[in-house]
Amino acid sequence: MLEEGILRSEYYLSESYLPERLPHREKEIEEIVLIIKPFIYGRSANNLVISGPPGTGKTSCVRHILNQVSENTDVNTAYINCWNYNTRASLYAKILQEQGIAIPRQGRPLDAYYEMLLEFIKKQGRLLIALDEFDQLHEKSQAIYDLVGINQFYENSLALIIISYKREGVKDLSHRAISRLNPKLLEFKPYSKVEILDILRERVELAFRPNSVQEEALEVIAEKAMEHNGDARIAIELLLEAGRQADLKGCNLTPEVVKSLFMRNSQFPLD
Ligand SMILES: Nc1ncnc2c1ncn2[C@@H]1O[C@H](COP(=O)(O)OP(=O)(O)OP(=O)(O)O)[C@@H](O)[C@H]1O
Ligand SMILES: [Mg+2]
Repeated sequence: MLEEGILRSEYYLSESYLPERLPHREKEIEEIVLIIKPFIYGRSANNLVISGPPGTGKTSCVRHILNQVSENTDVNTAYINCWNYNTRASLYAKILQEQGIAIPRQGRPLDAYYEMLLEFIKKQGRLLIALDEFDQLHEKSQAIYDLVGINQFYENSLALIIISYKREGVKDLSHRAISRLNPKLLEFKPYSKVEILDILRERVELAFRPNSVQEEALEVIAEKAMEHNGDARIAIELLLEAGRQADLKGCNLTPEVVKSLFMRNSQFPLD
């Protein structure tokens, strides 16, 4: 049924799709690369804390960079969403799993996982870990202290990229943890309307049939995203909803189709 509509593929509008290009985040990506470069080249590790409001591309940029690092260098990488792994034991187990190490189903004590991490680094070398949704992690200070502390056993062996939605996310760490982490800070700003429009246009190219989406429809979507503080996630979700709605109606994506969603859908209220 989808084949006959204007939506060619919903995949490109899903959260699991990691775009190859991230328009208007070139500078941020460059900055992150500069910060992690010394570590990649075997010199001392900078740790990094990235903060910024929802839907500003933090996760996407970091995942993009980790992919590049693991494809093009001998540094091992792990991306962890702390929503799903919020205890130290589950976090260390997941880091090991990401390295292809089997974890016994019945679980192991925390210390055993830490030992396994040390063993891995001793044998396999360096590890760049991204801790996304860091605010959700319990025992943050101890986790940071443990992980960054691995550098004391094996020099320049581990670096962290922490993603926190609030800049103060790392302020409540203990002094010991902060002093070990000593992070560089990078803040992602909300997108402007023009930037949201560029992001939307790229997705339209990928997900829709040619000439099926009116520019004015994108304007309406971008304006709604601006009401949500320049959130690209809202914009892309709305584009998907509007595409589905147009397909239901058997028409192209017009501003009217988008506006009709605001009437029907409490997620995108008209106000
Ligand atoms: N510059 C961009 N180009 C293309 N797509 C983008 C860009 N920035 C964000 N997106 C898309 O917007 C959505 C949200 O982005 P992302 O998850 O990276 O934001 P975030 O800053 O991590 O948000 P949160 O704080 O809620 O976790 C994703 O679907 C992502 O693909
Ligand atoms: Mg995120």
